[in-house]
Amino acid sequence: MTVKFWQDDKVFFVELANPPVNAINLAVRRGLHDALMAQKAAAGIDRVVLMGSDRIFAAGGDAREFDAPPVAPHLPDLLAMIEVSEVPWIAVINGAALGGGLELALACRYRIAGPKAQLGLPEVLLGVVPGAGGTQRLPRLIGFSAALQMITSGKPITADKGLTLGLINRIDNAPKAAAIAITADDLHTIVPVSNLPNSVMDDAILAKVNAGLSHRAAGQIAPIKAAELVAVTSYASFGEGMAAERDCFLTLRQSAQARALRHLFFAERGAKAPAELASYSSTINKVVVVGGGTMGAGIAHSLISAGVETVTIENNDASATAAIARAESLIEAGMKRGLITPERATEMRACHRISTDYASARNADIAIEAVFEDMALKQTVFQKLQTVMPANAILASNTSYLDIDEIAGVLDDPSRLIGLHFFVPAHIMKLLEIVKGEASAPTALAAGFALARRLGKIPVVAGVCDGFIGNRILARYREAADLLLLTGATPAQIDHAMTSFGYAMGPYETQDLSGLDHAYANRRRQDASRDPNRLYVKIADLMVEAGRLGRKSGLGWYSYDTVGQAKADPAVDSLITEAAATAGVTRRHYSDDDITHRLLLAMINEAASILDEAIAESAADIDLVSVLGYGFPRWRGGLMHYANQIGMAEILAGLETLSLEDNAIWQPCKLIKDIAAAGRGFT
Ligand code: NAI
Repeated sequence: MTVKFWQDDKVFFVELANPPVNAINLAVRRGLHDALMAQKAAAGIDRVVLMGSDRIFAAGGDAREFDAPPVAPHLPDLLAMIEVSEVPWIAVINGAALGGGLELALACRYRIAGPKAQLGLPEVLLGVVPGAGGTQRLPRLIGFSAALQMITSGKPITADKGLTLGLINRIDNAPKAAAIAITADDLHTIVPVSNLPNSVMDDAILAKVNAGLSHRAAGQIAPIKAAELVAVTSYASFGEGMAAERDCFLTLRQSAQARALRHLFFAERGAKAPAELASYSSTINKVVVVGGGTMGAGIAHSLISAGVETVTIENNDASATAAIARAESLIEAGMKRGLITPERATEMRACHRISTDYASARNADIAIEAVFEDMALKQTVFQKLQTVMPANAILASNTSYLDIDEIAGVLDDPSRLIGLHFFVPAHIMKLLEIVKGEASAPTALAAGFALARRLGKIPVVAGVCDGFIGNRILARYREAADLLLLTGATPAQIDHAMTSFGYAMGPYETQDLSGLDHAYANRRRQDASRDPNRLYVKIADLMVEAGRLGRKSGLGWYSYDTVGQAKADPAVDSLITEAAATAGVTRRHYSDDDITHRLLLAMINEAASILDEAIAESAADIDLVSVLGYGFPRWRGGLMHYANQIGMAEILAGLETLSLEDNAIWQPCKLIKDIAAAGRGFT
């Protein structure tokens, strides 16, 4: 029974009971229908109290049903019946009421929330619009502007905010008791939401929200459609608005964008420890972070935010002082953004110690090393750690590229070591690559997954290779981009093409932001092992050698004025054309499509090799890495999902054409040839 109902004196109770999140699927819709019929037949009742569990009201429609045609009873019809019921329904909202869950509450005559309730319509994040009256009822209830912002952002609001906006009627610590205590007269004076007057359109707010969407959600259809539907509430009848909403919802749920977003939604939920690790339990009471630089500070902040006792070990007193300042600046920034209260800041500070003494790692469960990217240094750090830490403590390196097996080789017990590759800024970025070395033990991997869970990160397992999953693909992206520079494009053209595709930033803007020197040092490390038959474009090296390190030096692929505004720089153009002349290349014109075509094929080809070599365990994992770590547009579903949409035959043909220009760089990966021949895609 996913919906329970019973009568107790004058109150008819309906309880959603579809754990874990009360997703509103067909069984729940049928249950609600049965409850409605039973309530109609019940004698002597003066109210219906609709509840979820203690933790959650309902998290929305069940996205697993969205690929198939809708099956009756449909939610909008049920909600219409609830709304016109002679006996008023009261929603008791203990936890989250999201999507269809909030729409259900909006159809009730009265809404009482517990103080921890969250209220939201996140449908646009799944590429659809609310489909059961959310776009039509919410603006009538809370006004055009507030509804527009909630619906187009998909962001939930708190119970307090909901009360201020009039979305709920009251907050009560015991909302169920409160629902029973309301006088029947009070209930009957309240007008159903659909009978409220039209919303009052605010052109200025609509223009502002639309401008924000064209920047923040460029290329995405659902938020724009949602805004249009909210506008409908200012002039059309409720019935007309409902018909428009339903049409739009049904069209969008079959759209490529909604499918892509659902694919990622399920990929994110599927990213957890595999069944074979289930029997390994992990203790994470205390973690030591070695190196309190950019990454170490972010990792430590993430740990103390999750309440994990943390010690950061630094090299010497001066570095420790700098690390303390870095840790403090992250707390301050969190407070400024309203994410950390002063009390919480005090607790977080109390959770974190910074030391120069390795002995402070003595009783830690896990060590995460984030010192400079240097093999010998990392090996020394781990040798020191193994002398002070318990033999069963887990050791992890945050290296971006280095060989985990080579690091593990200097340990007495190499099975203790894994890679934990965080992304910058480590306290914000959701992705965590868990690198599985040749010797890595299941206990160590299980600890990596447990830590990801504790920190709210999305874990993806990667095998050992230069750059693991993400940075290895990134290297090919940059190579293909530099090749375009050499043969005709400019940094601004390439950045423009990739932002038009949906990236928030193009490859050169990104490099300017993160600094060109790290990648330069990395290329020097790779010099000895680079394939001599592969064309090496030197332009990025020339940039660094000319002192152009990116934003931090005021000059990079662009030049920056005092307020940080980027401008194309003729000096960069000269550097590029000189490099082309030296290499004997005649430069040609590339269109935006030529640019995206080449850069995407380069990434897809490398990703296919990564899959073929089992460096990644699934195509969905590569999708997660591309979206969560490297800015691939979420609404395109990730690199491999996108490749599947194009089709393997077309990808193969594209690579074969390009390989006529340079067979070393564009040679199609074997997996692509195989699955194109088999008429399949990446799975
Ligand atoms: P960073 O230069 O900001 O910080 C390194 C810190 O390690 C410095 O504070 C330094 O004083 C400290 N350190 C050096 N030797 C030490 C020792 N023997 N004991 C204790 N502390 C020591 O470097 P960043 O950017 O934080 O990188 C650290 C690691 O994280 C590198 O392996 C890097 O490849 C990796 N990484 C960097 C990313 C980035 O975008 N910056 C992203 C992901 C990984």
